[in-house]
Amino acid sequence: MSINIHPSILSADFVNFQRDFETISHADAIHVDVMDGHFVPNLTFGLPMVRRMVEVATSPIDAHLMIENADELAVAYADAGAAGVTFHYEASTDSVALANRIRAAGAKAAVAVKPGTPVDVVLDSLDAFDMVLIMTVEPGFGGQSFIPEMMEKVSRARAEILRLQLETQIQVDGGIDSSTIIEAAKAGANCFVAGSAVFSKDNRNAEIDLLRNLAKANYSA
Ligand code: DX5
Ligand code: ZN
Repeated sequence: MSINIHPSILSADFVNFQRDFETISHADAIHVDVMDGHFVPNLTFGLPMVRRMVEVATSPIDAHLMIENADELAVAYADAGAAGVTFHYEASTDSVALANRIRAAGAKAAVAVKPGTPVDVVLDSLDAFDMVLIMTVEPGFGGQSFIPEMMEKVSRARAEILRLQLETQIQVDGGIDSSTIIEAAKAGANCFVAGSAVFSKDNRNAEIDLLRNLAKANYSA
């Protein structure tokens, strides 16, 4: 299983995204948090901005949609050129059908579960998703503390993916740094979002490399 580090630009300079992209060239993908002020109590940006990011980014775009009515809006992000589109289970009426539509539009499809949502809701349909995002904070803001209780969800999902011999990736998002990434990798996560941990550093690429090395050394499945 590949180990991937996706810096979250929620912690970037919002009027200098292109400049900040250049400081994270070692990223496997750039995690872009789309928030609508309804699904989460925070507002970032939408489709026109993501479309432009796709044009200037040096790495693939991993779009994390924290928006209501994902059924209606998610496919447009695939059409805009995002390499991966993650929607929330809580915001879609038929997560498998939506994942199929995202895949048909040419992107990887991922489903996210909030801390209060049991991982069981996606375990019966893992083959429909290229990735499952297990939120390790309540979505909405960067810089929050990692919730260690979420590791049980990661372990259960990884065990099921192995049992079914699937390639589904497990992403964790929220409070990931050089300490918590070890725990998450041990539990079976292979894709790691890190916002404040990366953007607070002077040498962001060095931090990305450090995080990747720690995850590689501790990943177990
Ligand atoms: C939170 C977002 C995250 C956020 C993570 O709702 O989904 O991607 O940027 O930030 P850190 O890594 O600072 O917890
Ligand atoms: Zn995110």
